[in-house]
Amino acid sequence: MTLARAAMLDFTVQLAKKAGNYLKENFGKDLTLEYKGRIDLVTKIDRGSQDLIVAEIEQSFPDHSIVAEEGVSREKGREYTWFIDPLDGTVNYVHRIPFFCVSLALYRNMEPFIGVCYNPLSGDVFCAQRGSGAFRNGERIAVSSSSRLVDSLVVTGFPYSLAVLDDSIARFTRILREVQGIRRLGSAALDLCFVASGSFDGFWEVSLKPWDMAAGVVILLEAGGRITGLCGEKFDLNHGNILASNGKIHDDLRGLM
Ligand code: IPD
Ligand code: CA
Ligand code: CA
Repeated sequence: MTLARAAMLDFTVQLAKKAGNYLKENFGKDLTLEYKGRIDLVTKIDRGSQDLIVAEIEQSFPDHSIVAEEGVSREKGREYTWFIDPLDGTVNYVHRIPFFCVSLALYRNMEPFIGVCYNPLSGDVFCAQRGSGAFRNGERIAVSSSSRLVDSLVVTGFPYSLAVLDDSIARFTRILREVQGIRRLGSAALDLCFVASGSFDGFWEVSLKPWDMAAGVVILLEAGGRITGLCGEKFDLNHGNILASNGKIHDDLRGLM
């Protein structure tokens, strides 16, 4: 099935809301935890949210490819690919911190097309479609105008793997000496949305997965932001390292990576 552009965005928003409301209904309840790594958690709620999303996409778009965090991968060609994070911010969710989202992205020929992030506890819907601007709850959003690191509030995350921890800490220290402040909120998808809406001026993280970034990338690009690899190289969703900003502080931040 092919829908008109606006209908595709609406489908994605409705789906993110449905999955997000499922997360909300289960927030604060007892969860059975499983570990994908030493500190990398997954719950039955991550899986429930993903099942709901994948079932609906499969029903509506059987010819689309799917890349989803909790072990679903369906290869149906390159034209349309969904990147699904059914719960971005699992550690927050488990600790009952109300900062997490459903992150859904649709890429067309592997280029950003649609991105939606929904935080069901704040009610915030961030969404964008390539070429049509970025929105938060229906209001157009844009990146900040900060041009000096000393005025900039930036955000980051730390990888689950300890292998790159020393580099991450050294980078954090270098940046902390130059900026107004650094936050670590626990959802890469929402971090990107908050750069897109001008609350943060920049974001970086290493070793992310495509589903952590895919939706936020569409939203930030449509809000006028810039996205590269850590050293300014062309951004690659599969590479895992991201430097994202309002554009104006990008080169200065890059110099500290
Ligand atoms: C995580 C969050 C976190 C980031 C981690 C991600 P998950 O995703 O986005 O902010 O620092 O690297 O893996 O595991 O909650 O979906
Ligand atoms: Ca994630
Ligand atoms: Ca997740």
